Amino acid sequence: MPAIVMSNSNDPPKEFEGKITSYVILCGIVAATGGLMFGYDIGISGGVTSMDDFLIEFFPSVYEKKHRAKEDNYCKFDNQDLQLFTSSLYLAALVSSFFASKSCTMFGRKRTMQAASLFFLLGVILNGAARDLAMLIIGRILLGVGVGFGNQAVPLFLSEIAPVKIRGALNILFQLDVTIGILIANIVNYFTTNLHPWGWRLSLGLAGVPAIILCLGSLLITETPTSLIERQRMDEGLATLKRIRGTENVDLEYDEIVHACEMARLVKRPFRNLMKRSSRPQLVIAIFMQIFQQFTGINAIMFYAPVLFQTMGFKNDGSLLSAVITGGVNVLSTVVSIVLVDKVGRKALLLEACAQMLLTQTAIGVILQMYLKNNNNLTPSLAITVVVLVCLYVMSFAWSWGPLGWLIPSETFPLETRTAGFFFAVSSNMLFTFIIAQAFLSMMCHLRAGIFFFFAAWIVVMGLFAMFLLPETKNVPIDEMTDRVWKQHWYWKRYMDEDGNDKKNNIENGSSR
Ligand code: BGC
Repeated sequence: MPAIVMSNSNDPPKEFEGKITSYVILCGIVAATGGLMFGYDIGISGGVTSMDDFLIEFFPSVYEKKHRAKEDNYCKFDNQDLQLFTSSLYLAALVSSFFASKSCTMFGRKRTMQAASLFFLLGVILNGAARDLAMLIIGRILLGVGVGFGNQAVPLFLSEIAPVKIRGALNILFQLDVTIGILIANIVNYFTTNLHPWGWRLSLGLAGVPAIILCLGSLLITETPTSLIERQRMDEGLATLKRIRGTENVDLEYDEIVHACEMARLVKRPFRNLMKRSSRPQLVIAIFMQIFQQFTGINAIMFYAPVLFQTMGFKNDGSLLSAVITGGVNVLSTVVSIVLVDKVGRKALLLEACAQMLLTQTAIGVILQMYLKNNNNLTPSLAITVVVLVCLYVMSFAWSWGPLGWLIPSETFPLETRTAGFFFAVSSNMLFTFIIAQAFLSMMCHLRAGIFFFFAAWIVVMGLFAMFLLPETKNVPIDEMTDRVWKQHWYWKRYMDEDGNDKKNNIENGSSR
């Protein structure tokens, strides 16, 4: 049995050997295409639900309302069925991510990603060929299952294969693909909106492309060493670790993974274990990172950007074009995050973004409050100002709460609760995405420009949270978080009580050092 290297908060930090191999990068790029599926879906819905052909076929009452003269600016598309189309996917993803977390533990991260691509593909076929609302909604549900499986497996996969020094960057490839997916979807919608009467079918059908890429690409990639060792495939785990690190000298890291797996094996019921006091810090952080991510209001912009821009008086084409611009900003700013996250750290990005988001949301709210009444349009210069503010807002989200909402929960749980704990992150994301998607149009109808102040207030709360309760996880090996992060944190250390240490002692007694 290999030596187990116990980490202890008094030990000096360990340096794992290992290069950044082209194979690890390839694995990262392929797995991240799970993010493309998610992003394409986020980006496509808003455009499709504002296409007349689509509305005539499935939501005739919304179509009529949209074209009635002198429609109220803020209440144009307030229709629960239409919102259900957008949000049903997230509900399905929420439920399925529970099964995905089990699947990640039992069958591995790679198999779970493959399952994701197949569910998604089925959903795409039903959506592209939809003849009635039932087909459309069932298709969305299958897409949701695909997203639930993908979002559960991909960020974990990326955090586990990454060398510690670039873990943040590699994990953010997922979010980069989310943003690319959103952008591509916006561009697709821009063109398909003029293809009558089937443009929307093309928009929905092209979602199959990322699913096929993930399905075929996954044949090229490895399972994570952690998942192999967790499932007792020790030799394969060791060989994989050597391959992805590009060196024979992986003993330290291997021992640490084996140690983490030993600890994990002692925990028979990860979900019950998560309810223990010592899991509280990671759980709270995982859930709140995602709740706050949604309460930045980003999806109010992402889903409904075309609707929002139409509200401000841009014509159909102009509004999609503006959505393409915000989509481009989203992608480029995510690259900034990839470059900075392992250098300046997670907290600095989150705090800077809070300041930028607060200013821009408030400014948008003030402009709309003062100048957008029920039935007028903004003047061109004001409308452009709002687009610029939206871009500045999206920019700050894209280098902070967007990627870090996924990264931080995927890197802070110990192995014994990692997949179960990450389920809470994924499902919180889905639940709150659902709530915002379902509520946004009605909220806009009732709160009017005040909706932007509503989100601005949340940004203050999340800024305080990031400042005081979020520990920094930059450059800490994933299996050393308990000792190096939680036990050192001014507040959370009080939760790191004896049961964590007891487990360690059991292992220490039964194994060599
Ligand atoms: C969020 C999505 C959001 C997207 C925008 C993701 O991290 O989970 O809800 O639409 O970022 O880029």
